[in-house]
Amino acid sequence: MKKYFKRLLIILGSLLVLVLIIGFFGWIYVKSIFFTFENNFIEKKDFKEITIDGYTFLDRNGNEKLDVYEDSSKPTNERVADVLFQMTVEEKIHLLKGSGLGSAMGMGKAGEGIPGAVGTIVPTPRLGLPTIYLSDGPAGLRIEPTRKDKDRTYYCTAFPIGTLLASTWNTNLVKEVGNAMGNEALEYGIDVILGPGANIHRHPFCGRNFEYFSEDPVLTGNIGAAIVNGIEANGVGASLKHFVANNQETNRNFNDVIISERALREIYLKGFEIVVKKSQPWTIMSSYNKVNGTYTSENKKLLTDILRNDWDFEGLVMTDWFGGNSAPATIKAGNDLLEPGTKRQWDALIEAQENGTLTMEEIDLSVSRILKLIIESKKMQNYQFGNNPDLKEHAKITRKSASEGMVLLKNENTLPIRNAKNIALLGVTSFDFIAGGTGSGDVNEAYSVSLEEGLKNTGFQINSTAKNIFENYKKNHLKQFEKPEGIKAMLTPYAPPQITYSSEQLKQFAKEADIAIITIGRNSGEGSDRVEEDDFLLNSIEKEMIENTCNYFHKANKKVIVVLNIGGVIETASWKAHPDAILLAWQGGQEGGNSVADILSGNVNPSGKLPMTFPIHLNDHASNKNFPLNAESTNILDMLFGKEVEAEEDKIKNIDYTNYEEGIYVGYRHFDKVKLDVSFPFGYGLSYTDFKYISPNITVENDTINVMVTIKNTKDLAGKEVVQVYVSKPNSNVDRPEQELKAFAKTKDLAPNESQSIIFQIPASELSYWDENKSGWILEKGVYSIQIGASSRDIKIAMEVEI
Ligand code: BGC
Repeated sequence: MKKYFKRLLIILGSLLVLVLIIGFFGWIYVKSIFFTFENNFIEKKDFKEITIDGYTFLDRNGNEKLDVYEDSSKPTNERVADVLFQMTVEEKIHLLKGSGLGSAMGMGKAGEGIPGAVGTIVPTPRLGLPTIYLSDGPAGLRIEPTRKDKDRTYYCTAFPIGTLLASTWNTNLVKEVGNAMGNEALEYGIDVILGPGANIHRHPFCGRNFEYFSEDPVLTGNIGAAIVNGIEANGVGASLKHFVANNQETNRNFNDVIISERALREIYLKGFEIVVKKSQPWTIMSSYNKVNGTYTSENKKLLTDILRNDWDFEGLVMTDWFGGNSAPATIKAGNDLLEPGTKRQWDALIEAQENGTLTMEEIDLSVSRILKLIIESKKMQNYQFGNNPDLKEHAKITRKSASEGMVLLKNENTLPIRNAKNIALLGVTSFDFIAGGTGSGDVNEAYSVSLEEGLKNTGFQINSTAKNIFENYKKNHLKQFEKPEGIKAMLTPYAPPQITYSSEQLKQFAKEADIAIITIGRNSGEGSDRVEEDDFLLNSIEKEMIENTCNYFHKANKKVIVVLNIGGVIETASWKAHPDAILLAWQGGQEGGNSVADILSGNVNPSGKLPMTFPIHLNDHASNKNFPLNAESTNILDMLFGKEVEAEEDKIKNIDYTNYEEGIYVGYRHFDKVKLDVSFPFGYGLSYTDFKYISPNITVENDTINVMVTIKNTKDLAGKEVVQVYVSKPNSNVDRPEQELKAFAKTKDLAPNESQSIIFQIPASELSYWDENKSGWILEKGVYSIQIGASSRDIKIAMEVEI
């Protein structure tokens, strides 16, 4: 017995030692990933430390004698050169990588980090260079709303998702949104917002499409530039992401995009190119994926030849979080900053510097780009942020922008709601409205207005029978109504089950209420792609709910409206005939319910138009042949510890590599080419008023095509129109899309009978195509057709020009 006891003790003892050893090394490893910046080798210069809200910053006023780099009257390049000269090699290499996720978030030493920030550019205290904080994301600033030992909150405004902003086609308005986002960053001490996203909607299932703008690069580029200009007007930076061809979440860290140079240039790079040229973002984030065999973060052709040499990008490039592979290769390619930064990267950089594979010139180049950002930051100017942005004012901006990007898809004498008071609200999402997507594109907002609340605020009455059914249903499904937060939200999408209404209940609603509104909700986000069943397709409960509600309400001579509270394209062709009106509300941020009510009530005349096509069938999309249709979620741990599949024979199509076989035929370019009917075309959207397109005129002067047209509001309600200019090249020598969007504009709010003349100036070079053989842009001579329309399939005027 004693013997066994002794053995047991030995076994337990060894196990304990083993656990301790694993624990110890595990902790060192985890620490090296999350906290990597140790600045004990740097001796502090005479800068005062100031503390705002418990977080420590360097106050540069503490220093009386200025070095050149400290003198803000000197040009940035001189200041950068001076500080570069003063830095040690170690300090320089430190700058190339962030301080780790944990220390950025404030989980490390006291006085370090901002809760919710996800990255930093490390400080160089000896020289008085401050920490630069980076935080998500595309729909508004994402920081933690509460802090330890603080009894106040740090909420941010949840603005509409990127796709909705693109649906406004209103660059001035989007700039205003960007400005408000940037102001929140400034006031919360964040120096760079990790957004906007400018990836193309290649396929409806990309889980992050909601963060992106459109299937078209010209719309993407112009909306993206507007946001960047708005954000950066505050003296904080934007990070345009994810550069480039990051069009699926499945195996996003290792997926290799096989793509032609032409598709890359004309479609996937084009939007980024426009943003760079029109707004010079402070930073760009390279993507996780590879392009034609090379990680984008190690791709010199993309990051140096194209971005810097061809487009004159002046900012810095950072990796996506824990992305890429070899740290030295990343710097060499022109990816200047590794985020959030790991100890492994530090070791690799030091080693590469010591053995000469990474030269001092290469290091200095990246460091100087980083220094430029630091020197131009508000932190360097000693801006004292107050942690009190004007959230009330920003709520007004988000409400206004959300209603302007909602798209009226169908309206048979139903909207605006005129003589109805009591509304039967159906579907869980009507009460549990979705403000935005999940993952890093989410925002921690103080509140979110549901459709129910929005309608009530506008003076409507919510039918209590329908409301009680929802309340009881929720009580019985409490667990499924618990919203996952943070990383959990990325792993388990929030999707409470739909209510099944009985015929009796529907009959009752039709008797009691004046009108019915059914909301269909969908949500998605970072880490996984969408799927067909129960997502792209309505499920049978939803289809029956629409059909049966319409039957009972129509019998009672009452109308039914469907509101789509979704982040990406769904199937609409099979059910759109039933309801009397369909409003694509997207995910409108924290004021979403109010914004929908503004449209339904007629307080706002809808003027959003589709930034992508709604197809009849999913496989109408050319990209459908090469997309992971039933992919599983990316395991979060893969991001940190995953490995790429190396043996060619083991690689799985659409997972390890994705063939962009459709080339340039993305979205409407494909549907037009093969003459397919669609459910709703690119550029489509209804208004409560009508517009006439008159007095067109087109001239070509100095290689610029001037297109003029007058838009007249012909009905008795004020409204805005989105005017779109498409160009096509009849009898081209090469395979080209039938038409391509080249310019667009939104009118002002035109009063009844009011007109506005719009002028577009399109450089002839924008009509070029990418020639694979000549490796360059070619402008074909000859006749082009310039088409001015209200959508891609509603061309009002077509005229020819000779180039
Ligand atoms: C996302 C980025 C985001 C970053 C930091 C990554 O997982 O792909 O878009 O900015 O995390 O949160």
